[in-house]
Amino acid sequence: MCGIVGYIGDNKALNFLLQGLSKLEYRGYDSAGIAVNCGENIFVEKAVGRLDALKEKLHNQKIDGTIGIGHTRWATHGRPSDRNAHPHTDCQENFVVVHNGIIENYMALKENLISRGHKFISETDTEVVPHLLEEFYNGNFLESVQKVLKKIEGSYSLVFMSKAHPDTLICAKQDNPLVVGLGNGENFIASDIPAIISKTRNAYILNDGEIAVVKKDSVKIFNRNGEVVEKKIFHVNWNAEAAEKGGYEHFMLKEINEQPKAVRDTISKRISKDGASIELELGWDKNFLDSINKIYIIACGTAYHAGLVAKFYIEKLARKLVEVDVASEYRYRNPIVDDKTLVIVISQSGETSDTLAALKESRRLGAKTLAITNVVGSSIAREAEQVIYTVAGPEIAVASTKAYTTQLILVFMLALYMAQIGKTISTERARELIDLLKKIPAQISETLSDVDPIKTFARQYGFNEDVFYIGRSLDYCVALEGALKLKEISYIHAEAYASGELKHGTLALIVEGVPVIALATQKSVYEKTISNIKEVKARDAVVIGIGAAGDTELEKYLDHVIFVPNTDELLIPLLTVVPLQLLAYYAAITRGCDVDKPRNLAKSVTVE
Ligand code: G6P
Repeated sequence: MCGIVGYIGDNKALNFLLQGLSKLEYRGYDSAGIAVNCGENIFVEKAVGRLDALKEKLHNQKIDGTIGIGHTRWATHGRPSDRNAHPHTDCQENFVVVHNGIIENYMALKENLISRGHKFISETDTEVVPHLLEEFYNGNFLESVQKVLKKIEGSYSLVFMSKAHPDTLICAKQDNPLVVGLGNGENFIASDIPAIISKTRNAYILNDGEIAVVKKDSVKIFNRNGEVVEKKIFHVNWNAEAAEKGGYEHFMLKEINEQPKAVRDTISKRISKDGASIELELGWDKNFLDSINKIYIIACGTAYHAGLVAKFYIEKLARKLVEVDVASEYRYRNPIVDDKTLVIVISQSGETSDTLAALKESRRLGAKTLAITNVVGSSIAREAEQVIYTVAGPEIAVASTKAYTTQLILVFMLALYMAQIGKTISTERARELIDLLKKIPAQISETLSDVDPIKTFARQYGFNEDVFYIGRSLDYCVALEGALKLKEISYIHAEAYASGELKHGTLALIVEGVPVIALATQKSVYEKTISNIKEVKARDAVVIGIGAAGDTELEKYLDHVIFVPNTDELLIPLLTVVPLQLLAYYAAITRGCDVDKPRNLAKSVTVE
């Protein structure tokens, strides 16, 4: 995720660009940059770090141009740095571009452009875009941009500025948001409404495939085929704060709803063209796998729960022994680690102090190290020998949601990648799983489309003081995450138990009316799970089941059932966690809790 802005009018562009970017920092904040057409030349300035670092650089500079573009970055290709910050230019600095998204075929395009003499200065995928424009430019700005768009594959919102066309900005949208704010003698471009709301409440919301040619007193929109599109003006009636949350009441709800895209982006480019294999940016081979006799997965909080699922995946698919540990325990227990150990750390922020220390300790002991994180260039990403990224975009709410699901999808892909290299999976089974993997984003959307029953349960049971979550195998891992969500944001005492353990103690706590959330999706242990459900039902608990669509058995034993779409039992945690996130969210709302900033907790824990 990144934030982009553009201005064209009679006022100094810089004022709007900086103000607009400050409203988009929630979309990314590892570096920022602006470009303003000053007639003779296009002035470009960029700075790594928060927007303030850019403002500092611009302080006392006289930049009077009235057309410009800007960007706040959340790195996906290339670490945060001045060079990798946007805007990017072509060789002659005639064209300037800002981009949000991922150009999937950039490597091939870049190689071709380099062979034609183009010079690249960044590691980004975006930089191919201005160079392509330079290549295709024929004097007609729009036509040349259209040619560029035909060449690139992937997701984008883009704004193009040309030195030779000081009266025009062109922007295009595919899979990433873009709005054009309509002013009086001036127009604004932005990733999102918060950036324009102080200037105008009238906007065009672009659809996928649309291109807008924006001048100071006109906006013309074209579809993919170059035909003019007559669009309705959207009148914004949200207040500024609501706008920042995309119209959602809380960042957490917004992030829950962003999961289909976050998961899709994390899968993107990591499946071979023929759909038969997983391609991760790791370069591992059979020798490497044979050199490892044990894997440690280390993390904290929600990331630790993703680690538990990862253990299951890797052991099941790649047949390697995996131990999972919370970072604060691992580092003080003199772990048995040597150069035959692979240590995988999982961290959304890449800055969690316990996880970082555990990683450093593992390196000291000679382990091979791999980080899975969401933040390019974070401390953990820099410390590990290898890193693969989740592509969730910034997560603002303290309770992690989209980071968790992207971690699950990535560890699943890692396990499958290892299984394919180590030949512990058949070609047919791998293809079957990849086919199902591709369907997960749409299935998450489907799960998100019916929240009413969940709202009702939250209202009904939101005032209980104790809730139990039960499940077996992968359902147990998800139960742990569901219980954590409820504790974190609704302050209800929630515990997750492996269903088979109930009889060894917890059953004593199950009395009439106690809510029990029972996950029952794992076919291999289904009968046993049903027996455990009967045990709690016999003690008059209120049991809410989470099952796979088509399961006609479950309803017979439960008070209510929430069904998620059917998939392989390995992938179903990506779906079952969604109603649990929503249940926690609506329970917290019912209890009037501060959902995004729960008491005593922090998003990034950089102390021991
Ligand atoms: C904090 C957050 C949790 C997160 C944990 C680990 O406790 O509140 O949501 O799971 O840190 O964070 P990390 O950034 O390392 O994944």
